[in-house]
Amino acid sequence: MSKNKNNQAIWNTRVKKNTSALFKKVGSSIDIDKRLYKEDIMGSEAHVEMLFKQKIVSFKIKNKIIYGLKKIEKEIAKNKFEFNKEYEDIHMNIEKRLFQIIGEDAGFIHTARSRNDQVITDLKIWMKNSTKELNSQINKLIKSILRIAEKNVETIMPGFTHLKNAQPISFGHYLMAYVEMFVRDKLRFENNMQNLYENPLGASALAGTSFNIDRNYTSKKLGFKNPTNNSIDTVSDRDFVLDFLYTSSVCSMHISRISEDLIIWNSDGFNLIQLSDKIITGSSIMPQKKNPDLLEYLRGKTGSLYGNLFSMLTILKGLPLSYFKDLQDDKKIIFENFDTLINCLKILDEVLNNLSPNKKRMLELAEKGYTTATDLADYLVRNHSMTFRNAYQKTAAIINYAEKKKKRLKDLDIIELKKIEPQLKEEVMKVFSLKNSINSKKSYGGTSFDNIKKMILKYKKYL
Ligand code: ARG
Repeated sequence: MSKNKNNQAIWNTRVKKNTSALFKKVGSSIDIDKRLYKEDIMGSEAHVEMLFKQKIVSFKIKNKIIYGLKKIEKEIAKNKFEFNKEYEDIHMNIEKRLFQIIGEDAGFIHTARSRNDQVITDLKIWMKNSTKELNSQINKLIKSILRIAEKNVETIMPGFTHLKNAQPISFGHYLMAYVEMFVRDKLRFENNMQNLYENPLGASALAGTSFNIDRNYTSKKLGFKNPTNNSIDTVSDRDFVLDFLYTSSVCSMHISRISEDLIIWNSDGFNLIQLSDKIITGSSIMPQKKNPDLLEYLRGKTGSLYGNLFSMLTILKGLPLSYFKDLQDDKKIIFENFDTLINCLKILDEVLNNLSPNKKRMLELAEKGYTTATDLADYLVRNHSMTFRNAYQKTAAIINYAEKKKKRLKDLDIIELKKIEPQLKEEVMKVFSLKNSINSKKSYGGTSFDNIKKMILKYKKYL
């Protein structure tokens, strides 16, 4: 054990003084990357199997190493492993322990590899699994949205542009907009998998190795499709990290947008939805308050996710090839991102399952702000052969009149309407019905009840 005494750095033959204690404390990543222990052991097992297959290590040594690695895995799983900051990261902690368990033969494990390829191999394996986990959580969320949308196909509410009442829509149609967004998020995560299928192991420090290794073999063993093509790019590439962070940011932005809508709709001014007590908090001073804290949390967290994306972009900008310590922070950023996003997806799911639309109030508000004005203009085009621009002017004149009389469009009578447009007949009154307005929007992707039902069915089949 002379060369690998406990508490001595692997490089202590060359580096004569102990590294700064402060730096060891802050520069070690073990607290963060110990989360990669399973992936690290998996990678080491595949590596040593390959070394044996290629006759680089003997059968006996391979078995000894596998035995030691399995023992370490159990120790960590049972919380019986002592992580030591002296050894910087998970790779060195495991290697050091391997020496304690099997002795000097542990020294063979690091043949033809470096921590530089090891760390990204671990991270890519972890990211593949985590991406799948995120996608199954997104799936669950989509299913919840579909369920709620199905119950609310005929729930009428005002649709907004500029936060001003625009046209009547179905609450179900609004919800289905988020199905589109979350389905796109899933697709983005799935697309990211392409880069995660390339195996970094075997790039070694940066130049490859003089040993006759078989990178296709380790690729297969570790669930990759093929080895990466360029050893220098391999150890310096963190594009897959950026992809993950960007995709998480977009998904989080969707969560934030729906949260913002719901916060507004929950306000006393709008009062369009009711949040159950399970998803609100109170105030320490105002006894009457019921605050939508969970939604605010979701909106706020998007800020940290964007921050993570920008941290990583900034770390990479101007970093020469190939590996540098700067890159070590990738894992902290990625893990934080994953934990935050998966929690946000779960919280949003809980929120959606614990809110109810105030249908009466939604309808009432949808009647305000002349939301069927476009329907009237469309009617004039269809029935009185006007150009849309002329019909628009006529409708605007009718609205000006109604506004002066403090009436809604549906409260005007045909005599009043005829004063402005003599061609109009009694039947025009039907265009002021919100339900008729919604059901007239039959164009593909429009808000008619039938359209929504078909879309819900389509997505139910797709999932
Ligand atoms: N702890 C390092 C990281 O997470 C592992 C790679 C270290 N390589 C090196 N040459 N220092 O990035």
